[in-house]
Amino acid sequence: MSAPAVTAGLDKAPTTHPRLLAWVREIAELTTPDAVVWCDGSPEEWQRLTTELVDAGTIVPLNPSIKPNSFWARTDPSDVARVEERTFICSVDEADAGPTNNWMAPGEMKRAMTELYRGCMTGRTMYVIPFCMGPLTAENPMFGVEITDSAYVVASMRVMTRMGRQALDKMGDDANFVACLHSVGAPLGPGESDVAWPCNDTKYISHFPETREIWSYGSGYGGNSLLGKKCYSLRIASAIARDEGWLAEHMLILKLTSPQGSVRYIAAAFPSACGKTNLAMLEPTIPGWKVETLGDDIAWMRFGPDGRLYAVNPEYGLFGVAPGTDWKTNPNAMRTLAAGNSIFTNVALTDDGDVWWEGMGEPPAHLTDWHGNDWTPDSAQPSSHPNSRFCTPISQCPILAKEYEDPRGVPIDAILFGGRRKTTIPLVTQARDWVHGVYLGATISSETTAAATGQVGVVRRDPMAMLPFIGYHAGDYLQHWVEVGKGVGGDTDKLPKIFYVNWFRRGDDGRFLWPGFGENSRVLKWVVERLDGTGEAVETPVGFVPAPGALDVSGLDVPEADVAEALVVDPLEWRSEIPQVTEWFEKLGDKLPAVMWAELDALKARLGID
Ligand code: PEP
Ligand code: NA
Ligand code: MN
Repeated sequence: MSAPAVTAGLDKAPTTHPRLLAWVREIAELTTPDAVVWCDGSPEEWQRLTTELVDAGTIVPLNPSIKPNSFWARTDPSDVARVEERTFICSVDEADAGPTNNWMAPGEMKRAMTELYRGCMTGRTMYVIPFCMGPLTAENPMFGVEITDSAYVVASMRVMTRMGRQALDKMGDDANFVACLHSVGAPLGPGESDVAWPCNDTKYISHFPETREIWSYGSGYGGNSLLGKKCYSLRIASAIARDEGWLAEHMLILKLTSPQGSVRYIAAAFPSACGKTNLAMLEPTIPGWKVETLGDDIAWMRFGPDGRLYAVNPEYGLFGVAPGTDWKTNPNAMRTLAAGNSIFTNVALTDDGDVWWEGMGEPPAHLTDWHGNDWTPDSAQPSSHPNSRFCTPISQCPILAKEYEDPRGVPIDAILFGGRRKTTIPLVTQARDWVHGVYLGATISSETTAAATGQVGVVRRDPMAMLPFIGYHAGDYLQHWVEVGKGVGGDTDKLPKIFYVNWFRRGDDGRFLWPGFGENSRVLKWVVERLDGTGEAVETPVGFVPAPGALDVSGLDVPEADVAEALVVDPLEWRSEIPQVTEWFEKLGDKLPAVMWAELDALKARLGID
């Protein structure tokens, strides 16, 4: 064996968990770090790591009187977003990855990545991060352990997950865990000095659904490196959920209380950078309504003993897109950030040591941009990367619902699907039934955003906003949704009702027809009225839309004609969707549930297409 006999810290493990100890030793021998650190999640550890990161030039402390205990990070300009083309589902059988995922055989991927990992932590510290997705008090806590050579990842994981000593203790000696291996892929030779943001041009984000493992290499960026988030809580968890009869979804969770005090819980799926965080924290513009937040990105939904679907947010923090977030669009996010304890990545720095990004109104006369260069309002490029992020504790959200820590979750009354479309899709549509709702989710279309590398603004199908996150065959995934719709013991009345929303429809001149943000509470009100059986709707070929006058527009400063246009179902526009949906369904092949084709046929019949 070529590895050093003793790596500093390797024998000081604060656990006797045999599988964990063996795995940590195996990875230390493979990656040859200078030292191994078992993360405890303490404030002292945060202090030590952030100091090291400041010394390394990776992060800069913000002005503590404005943003206490907060930091500004800049990545390598090539490492700014999820890399979908480098993301792999390595199922044993290629057919289980399906046509929407990249696939490589697990053995082949492991051989290739093992060579990349060999010696890759030389000159660095290897951190071991025990963590739990969802409350530690859950009946079956969902553990993970991430090994990483990035202190930035450790600090971010402390914000985003319940981690450290508390998780390790709860694991005992025999708890199962998802093994998550991460390296930035930048070993340091003797005397070699480090760069502020180490990463590698070669990147792999690999998932092994059968063995519940994640291997990530070459990127330090959030979605590629904070492995509890997209990799575990969506890709691996969706495969677990399929096997166990539940749902792991790309959804916010909110609690909505009416002026009469009745409570509804809503989950909503939108593609990345389409306003999930804003909707999760919205301040209703209609009097008497109250929104509280449970989650802004991921929902795990399991059937309760009463046959209802209960949702838990597995995360502990918010990893939100910064640009566009301000006191007008999302005051609760701004309040959350003002409490400090946050890491901002690829935003701009103000001269007084605060952060700034596009969408905050008038820019200051001078900034340091996300490249570290001087920036003025005359600069040609935006000061912040469009996918720049804030990473902040959810506990600081002033409207966090008290149910957030309840391991049983909250019973979901309505599911909203949505995408970003300039045309065709009405402001809100209610599905006729569960299977029609699954069809609406299966055919979500959205213009691509900066959240993933690649072209922005291209319409693509994004089933349940899960296209980059389904850990198995998308056809099997839709079949699983159909199965869930049979309810417990056939009791389908208890299932959430399904709606499809589009905040982004535009008029001929390109203006938004609907103001969005807090005004979306008007749509939520109609959703609740539909649940209560009081909301008026008209049936269209694509589902139920609000009847004229049914949407509460009192006090809304928008021309009535725009609201009407936002609700229009134009058969001509819908006819031109049909070939795209057909092509999408054909791509999914034989595993697409037959009922999806039946839904498409029924839609065609209603549109008068044969
Ligand atoms: C991310 O990319 O790190 C991430 C949180 O995902 P999303 O694109 O959904 O925001
Ligand atoms: Na593919
Ligand atoms: Mn997301």
